[in-house]
Amino acid sequence: MASPVPSDESLPQPVLGQPSSIAMFLVATIEPGGEPAVREVLGSLAGLVRAVGFPSPDGGLCCVAGVGSGAWDRLFGHPRPARLRPFRELAGPRHLAPATPGDLFFHIKAARPDLCFALAAELVRRLDARVTVRDEVQAFSYFDSRNLLGFVDGTENPVGPAAAEAALVGPEDPGFWGGSYALVQKYLHDVEAWEALAVEAQEKVIGRTKLTNLELDVPGSHKDVNTVTGPDGTEQEILRSAMPFGRPGHGEFGTYFVAYARTPEVPETMLRRMFLGGPDGGPDPLLDYSRAVTGNLFFVPSAGFLESWAR
Ligand code: HEM
Repeated sequence: MASPVPSDESLPQPVLGQPSSIAMFLVATIEPGGEPAVREVLGSLAGLVRAVGFPSPDGGLCCVAGVGSGAWDRLFGHPRPARLRPFRELAGPRHLAPATPGDLFFHIKAARPDLCFALAAELVRRLDARVTVRDEVQAFSYFDSRNLLGFVDGTENPVGPAAAEAALVGPEDPGFWGGSYALVQKYLHDVEAWEALAVEAQEKVIGRTKLTNLELDVPGSHKDVNTVTGPDGTEQEILRSAMPFGRPGHGEFGTYFVAYARTPEVPETMLRRMFLGGPDGGPDPLLDYSRAVTGNLFFVPSAGFLESWAR
């Protein structure tokens, strides 16, 4: 297949790349009449990130911005990314994946919390009363890339060209080459119930060993439910960027889950298996200990697309 990044115009936002030590996630809705201000902020995002990050070259500050289905029409009109649509709520017999309000998504990454904070503060200041921030999460990497359930998270993520292949739109939607779909969910864990399980039982839920992170062959595990193959038998991949967050004093222990994908169908298939179950597997035993409290689908246009609006 042709390279997914053919020109400067389709240079992606920093969707690919290593996980950051710190992240901040903002989800906001746009107030009526706020569209011009939002367009301006999105168009000047790259310059703003440069301004905040340049004095701290080791800080690795970067930001990915996404736009929800309804907001796309309000901000950019037509054409639309071919597969952009609202997040579809999934209500299974035992598990619910709710759809929650969200027009804009900012995924801010850095090696230091102050840089994430400074960029978020400036974004919110510029957007001012034109948006309502619906969710704001400060997340961090935890020990050796573990989630708050104690398991290493992200091992099977594609890397290099495979990551671009999994996460970036290519020739199938030429006007949006270099873009990506971001499926976003905030999960809260029942850590008490999880910790009451023996380690061997936890390992059967995840499908990997806890200490050594080795793959286990456990039908019905989280890993198994999320191993999805296409019609040609090849594995369908997404680029996950899940980060822990929490407030121990409030009993809050969570995973902020972001899947970047070339098409939303792949993470949507995974979610259907996780939440509804079906002949191919699921529901996912991880959901007995993890509750989804938000759900959104955004399109992350290429950096070139955003800058063209600034021009
Ligand atoms: C509570 C939220 C979640 C937690 C704590 C979690 C945790 C994990 C862990 C520990 C692994 C094994 C290591 C790895 O390869 O990363 C894993 C694998 C994976 N997860 Fe999740 N996950 C969560 C939600 C999701 C969701 C919502 C999806 C899909 C939409 C998903 C898709 C996958 C995939 C594709 C794999 C790799 C499977 C393979 O081995 O090929 N996860 N996850």
